[in-house]
Amino acid sequence: MSILVTGGAGFIGSNFVLDWLAQSDEPVINLDKLTYAGNRENLQSLNGDPRHVFVQGDIGDSALVADLLAKHQPRAIVNFAAESHVDRSIHGPEDFIQTNIVGTFRLLEAVRAYWGGLQSDARQSFRFLHVSTDEVYGSLGKDDPAFTEAHRYEPNSPYSASKAASDHLVRAYHHTYGLPVLTTNCSNNYGPYHFPEKLIPLMIVNALAGKPLPVYGDGQQIRDWLYVKDHCSAIRRVLDAGHIGEVYNIGGWNEKPNLEIVHTVCALLDELRPRADGKPYKEQITYVADRPGHDRRYAIDARKLESELGWKPAETFETGISKTVQWYLDNQAWVSNVQSGTYREWLEKNYTGRNA
Ligand code: NAD
Ligand code: DAU
Repeated sequence: MSILVTGGAGFIGSNFVLDWLAQSDEPVINLDKLTYAGNRENLQSLNGDPRHVFVQGDIGDSALVADLLAKHQPRAIVNFAAESHVDRSIHGPEDFIQTNIVGTFRLLEAVRAYWGGLQSDARQSFRFLHVSTDEVYGSLGKDDPAFTEAHRYEPNSPYSASKAASDHLVRAYHHTYGLPVLTTNCSNNYGPYHFPEKLIPLMIVNALAGKPLPVYGDGQQIRDWLYVKDHCSAIRRVLDAGHIGEVYNIGGWNEKPNLEIVHTVCALLDELRPRADGKPYKEQITYVADRPGHDRRYAIDARKLESELGWKPAETFETGISKTVQWYLDNQAWVSNVQSGTYREWLEKNYTGRNA
């Protein structure tokens, strides 16, 4: 028995693979294109481990995926592979359409052919779990109830629109062809191996480098934060016990405005790695022009997952963010290795001249 994980060298995918193999001996076939966001260093601790088979490749490469399925005969697929950064989708949506929509479609086609050829028992127990986001539901007003699984789809960025399209394809492959799918829609993750283009790792890395901490707009946008390992445990639970064709929202009831997140990161760094001049890191906060089309608030109602499958997060925001800041302090080599030329070009493109 084995599972196929796509995008397993990215932030959440690599945490998932590491956690999976820490708890099980079931091998993982890890298919990842290694875009700028994919990093084999995240999986360094698995070097030489025969339970981890890494394959560099694209989910949209139908022949490669068909070969992998035929060779390894996985009992399940967990699809993390995606372009994931909203700001990049605003600067250039093409890759998001290619991977998140066309790539998911080609993956589904290859999986449908493979699943159709399985013997009856294997066919029945097979699962395709699609990892998606709360952003497909759009933006909430201040007093609106949190997103349930029944919330209408109202994606606002090219990223969320491409994820919404992929969710619809997954749903259609179940409805039309009977493919045994599960979909999860999770809120904002944070934790180890988070690429420093996203809010929390960017703030940690910039603070330590003495750079400005760029807050978009008024910093009062709200996100609902979940420690990455809790997302991974929820996915394992849905894979084990989720009902075929169902959607599960994943979240930890941790709504916070961005400015509060940045202040928390600054306060932790003040304590753990004080600035040489003794001043607080929050002095580095700079307000910059807002993200176009910026969603104001996300909040996940995770009661279905809790009541039907008995899942609960293990971390509070306070424990998770302390672990995260400490991880970045302890892994400065990882941090400097990910700051390649292309990373610096991205910072230049997204932040230079971005006046409030
Ligand atoms: P990430 O950008 O860190 O990693 C994405 C990974 O996918 C990378 O390793 C990349 O190399 C790989 N990849 C990209 N295109 C590929 C392709 N065509 N074929 C194979 N591999 C490809 O993203 P992440 O933050 O780890 O997110 C993983 C998944 O979880 C995504 O589907 C994302 O939409 C979803 N999600 C993320 C969050 C979050 O807060 N980060 C929250 C909810 C859902
Ligand atoms: O909600 C789930 C989503 O969370 C995932 O689907 C996405 O893949 C993931 O990237 C994340 O999207 P966000 O756009 O919410 O994450 P990001 O870290 O880019 O931004 C978080 C908030 O912080 C958002 O309101 C924008 C703001 N921000 C971000 C950056 C990078 C800033 O104020 N300054 C910044 O420099």
